[in-house]
Amino acid sequence: MQVIQSPGEVQKLTLDHKFQRKSIGLVPTMGALHQGHFSLIEKARRSTDVVVVSIFVNPLQFNNTEDLQNYPRTLQKDLDALEKLGVDIAYTPSEDAMYTNKPVVSIDFGELAIPMEGGFRPGHFGGVGVVVAKLFHQTHPDKAYFGLKDLQQFLLIRKMSQDLSFPVEVIGMPIIREESGLAMSSRNQRLSDKGKLQAAALYQGLQLAKSQWKLKSSPEETKKTAIAFYNQQEGLTIEYFEIVDPETLQTAENHTEQVAMCVAGYVEGVRLIDNLYLRQD
Ligand code: PAJ
Repeated sequence: MQVIQSPGEVQKLTLDHKFQRKSIGLVPTMGALHQGHFSLIEKARRSTDVVVVSIFVNPLQFNNTEDLQNYPRTLQKDLDALEKLGVDIAYTPSEDAMYTNKPVVSIDFGELAIPMEGGFRPGHFGGVGVVVAKLFHQTHPDKAYFGLKDLQQFLLIRKMSQDLSFPVEVIGMPIIREESGLAMSSRNQRLSDKGKLQAAALYQGLQLAKSQWKLKSSPEETKKTAIAFYNQQEGLTIEYFEIVDPETLQTAENHTEQVAMCVAGYVEGVRLIDNLYLRQD
């Protein structure tokens, strides 16, 4: 595995691979890697010739400096794991290398960035858009893999690629969970064992909402049930619970078969998100 810090070097190296007609799979991450990340990497390994994993804690997308400072950083452990997974290139740029000039260009995702994460984390998606656009230009991926845990992020990046004609297929991958149902996340490392148990209630609430939805309940009724459940959970403070169209993220007005139920909340001061994507079955 090659570990590359320089944007220029990774750009040249991946371009060389492209000239040799090799397909490139990119998995962008902020490190503190877990099974959720590994599932994306394994998919890239099966589907493309050269797998690039980027590790970069992107300051531009943190709207809260404390969150940025507390973000877990486990670089050596991450690199060992990437080596074992058969990754070809680990790309670990420094902040100075990535942002030699602070970007003045920003990306506005319109309506898609207004609800949920966009509402509660002002500036977050603008920062995600800039870094992912840079990573795409720096690593020339044919395919890029994103987790559906960050559903809104996935939809925005896919839209950005379409609207700006990036020659990359943006692929969404299922959420990987702990046995308790808790969605895996780098931020879970900041939770105590008790906190992890409390955080599993996020998923339990989604399951409860799902069973209510299956009884053809209205969005309003279902939301009420979920929020009532969450409010009873010790240690959990909910920021939002929304039932939305899984493509446009607009609030569902009526009962439809295909919706996404999305939740964000805090446990032990750590912000966590989760969702369930209900399709017709
Ligand atoms: P990070 O939180 O490290 O996540 C990297 C990728 O892993 C994202 O696409 C995320 O959705 C996916 N992922 C995280 N937990 C997952 C889980 N439990 N199951 C499946 N996939 C999971 O998301 C980011 O980094 C950043 O915003 C980034 C895209 C790298 C831009 O800085």
